[in-house]
Formats: sequence, C-alpha cells, structure tokens
Amino acid sequence: MAKMWAGRFQKEESKDVNDFNSSISFDGVMFKDDIVGSMAHARMLGHKGIISKEDSSLIIKTLGEILADIEEGNLLLDPEAEDIHMFVEAELTKRIGEVGKRLHTARSRNDQVALDVRLYLRGLVDSILEKLNALLNTIIDLAEKNKETVMPGYTHLQRAQPITFANHLLAYAFMIKRDISRFIDAKDRMNYSPLGSCALAGTTYPIDREMVSEELGFKGIVMNSLDGVSDRDFTVELASASSIAMMHLSRFSEEIILWCSWEFKFIDLDDAYSTGSSIMPQKKNPDIAELVRGKTGRVYGDLITLLTMLKGIPLAYNKDMQEDKEAIFDALNTLDQCLKIFKPMLETIKVNKENMRNAAAKGFINATDLADYLVKKGMAFRSAYKISGSLVAYCIDNGIILEEVPLEVFKTYSSLFDNDVYEDINIEKCTFKRTSQGASAVESVDAQIKALRS
Ligand code: ARG
Repeated sequence: MAKMWAGRFQKEESKDVNDFNSSISFDGVMFKDDIVGSMAHARMLGHKGIISKEDSSLIIKTLGEILADIEEGNLLLDPEAEDIHMFVEAELTKRIGEVGKRLHTARSRNDQVALDVRLYLRGLVDSILEKLNALLNTIIDLAEKNKETVMPGYTHLQRAQPITFANHLLAYAFMIKRDISRFIDAKDRMNYSPLGSCALAGTTYPIDREMVSEELGFKGIVMNSLDGVSDRDFTVELASASSIAMMHLSRFSEEIILWCSWEFKFIDLDDAYSTGSSIMPQKKNPDIAELVRGKTGRVYGDLITLLTMLKGIPLAYNKDMQEDKEAIFDALNTLDQCLKIFKPMLETIKVNKENMRNAAAKGFINATDLADYLVKKGMAFRSAYKISGSLVAYCIDNGIILEEVPLEVFKTYSSLFDNDVYEDINIEKCTFKRTSQGASAVESVDAQIKALRS
C-alpha cells in the first residue's frame, strides 16, 4: 500500500514490514483523542491564518463526521493502516481531498502521538480514580460494621496482639487513599500539551500552543519541544502507581485467600464471587483474589517494559516509543479490571465474627498485656516481659490459656500479681483499651474513619 511518506521512496515496503511496523491494532483505541486533538489543531491553524477559516471549518466538520462514523460502527479501522493517526488523516483526505491535506501543517506525528497518548491516558486514569474511590468507601463501610469484631493481629503470620477487624481493614483503606493521591499527582504532571513541539524542533509557523492546550483541557504546554515528543516518563509514573496499587490489592487478596481457607474461616466469599472445582465437589475457590494476585506480576512487567524501553534511546523521538502503548494500556486496564471486580467481592463477604474471636482466644495474644500489668505495678518492662514469657511456657505445658492460670500460680512468678490481673488480660479489654492514635479502640478507629472520609 502506498504510504503518505512515499515521496522519497523507490520501493514499497513488504507486507511483513508493514505488519511489523503497524500499531493500529493497539493504538486504534485512541481514535477519539486523535480526532479531538486534530480538531483543536485545525481550529488553531484557522485562527492564526495558517490555513483559511473555510478550510479549518471544513476539516473540523469532517473530522466530527469521521468520529461519529467510527463510534456508530459505520467506519471500520483499516488494519493495514500504519497507525491511527495515518488512518484518520487518510480518511479525511478521502472525504475532502486537498483541504484534508492541510491538517498536518505545523504538526508531526511525533507531537501528535505524544498528545493522543496523554489524552487517552487521562480517561483511563479517571476511570481508575473513580474505582479506587469506590473501593475506599467499600472498605470503610465494612470497617464501620466491624468496629467491635475482635480478631488476632499477626506478625510473621503468628498471632501477635488483639485488634479489631475494622482496624485491620482500615490499613488497606489508607493504602488505597495513597494510591489515589499517586494517580492524581501523576495525572497532574502528565497534563501538559506537547502539541506544537512538531517533529522535535518546533516550527516556523506562527502557531498558538496555548490555544490548543486550553481547548483540550491541559494545565499548560510542555515547555521544551524535544522533551514534548521524547519523554514518556508519565507512562512510567502511571505504571508505577498501578504496580503499587496492584501490590496493595495483591496483599489484600492473599489475606482474603487465607481467611476463607478452612484453617482460618474468618470470612466466607459469596458464591457469586467464587468458583468450583471440576473434580472435587466440596471445593469453593477464591479464584478472583488469586487472579488479582497473579495479575500483579503482569503489571510489574509492564513497568519494567517501559523503563527498559526508554533507558537507552537518544533524543528525540525514536520508534521504540511505539512500544509504550501496549504496556501502559495493559497496566491501567488490568488494574481497572481488578478494581472493578474486587469491590463487589469485598462487599459481599460474610464475616465470621465468632471464628475471629475464637482465634483471638488462643495464641497468647494478651501476653504483652500481662507484662504491661506488672509494669503498671512497678516492675521494669524487661523483667515483666520475662515473667510473662515464663507464664506462657507454663500454659503451653499445662494446656491452658493465661486467663486460666490460678492466682496462686501467678503469685509464684511475682508477688505483684493480684486478682485484678484477670481484668487486664481479658481479650476485649486488651483490644479496646488500646486507645492510642491509629489503634483498635472504637474512638481510635472512628478518628481514622473521619480522616479517611475527609
Ligand atoms: N505509531 C507511532 C507511535 O506510536 C506514531 C509516531 C510515529 N512517528 C514517526 N516519526 N514514525 O509512536
């Protein structure tokens, strides 16, 4: 097929070269951004008298018709086209001839693609932000319902100290909140218009870059023409924010998988968000959480793809950069899909409060509180720690829990022990007297929720 750039060439490229070079199979999704960008460019060209007002209007009108035709399915993208930019321009020229050929004045595909990608990514980021906010609210709502649900908190996956399920959940809420701010930051830094950088060196035409930037809702223009066409740091930032968000979802997924195992049974997943086994009739598997965990690696891969693609290319544009799209689209779309399914999965879990409380009863998660009791009575913490540890060993030997140790036995370890020790090691007390900021006491959890909602 004859190319727009055929003038300098004596031969046509082979079909294999065309296929290898073509990006329309993955940049076709940017058709709307390409057209909207071209409309803004054409308007500016007309306004500045670089092309006539009539030509500018005809180009804009025809681009609108092309957009409508693609959206309504009346115009199919040509898989043989080199990319979406060439496709739209060729279609425009097919419809209005010579006038269409004026659109590309004072523009290069280099600044055009840099513009289109930014526009398209803005949309993907907005969708992710919406879903992150929705998930944040779901987590907070679930926490609200579990302010009194006592469970063992873990370190090293060993029962450590008593907490509430609400406090555990809110840890994820704060992570998601930071994910939201990372996406907002990255979007902010990306939101500058590169159009007018042209191929790399700007142009001799009297263009108005600000006019285009304003029409397209950018905060301003990329100030350096080479930077405008040759950096893709915003894709790296977004892939990085996506990787971090996926890492959070993956840890959450891992816990969900553990919690619905028979070993824990802290939660049950809704049937609609679980799958069965082809052979084992009893199975109810947490496939969704597993897939979220699995897809995390894929998003990390996208990040590494982008970093590696960029690391060695000289300024300004190089074709390597065409590889940015599949990677960043995949990272953002994967996160978007995961968020979409994660929220209803979480919304529909059944919390087995009794099992959580039973797990909190075992594992000596009040051993720190026992030591703190002695500290309260005047003993140094290290000595109290040692006595509490010895009492745990005593309990293990005798198959009992700390609350079941008779007072006479307590007294053989320290004369400071008295009847009030039982109150201090009561699991509920241990949980709800943790009133420090960020802890599990109801007032501490309420303060966290307030901070999250603000
Ligand atoms: N499809 C190309 C890309 O995605 C568009 C830019 C092509 N520019 C060029 N000078 N060949 O990067």
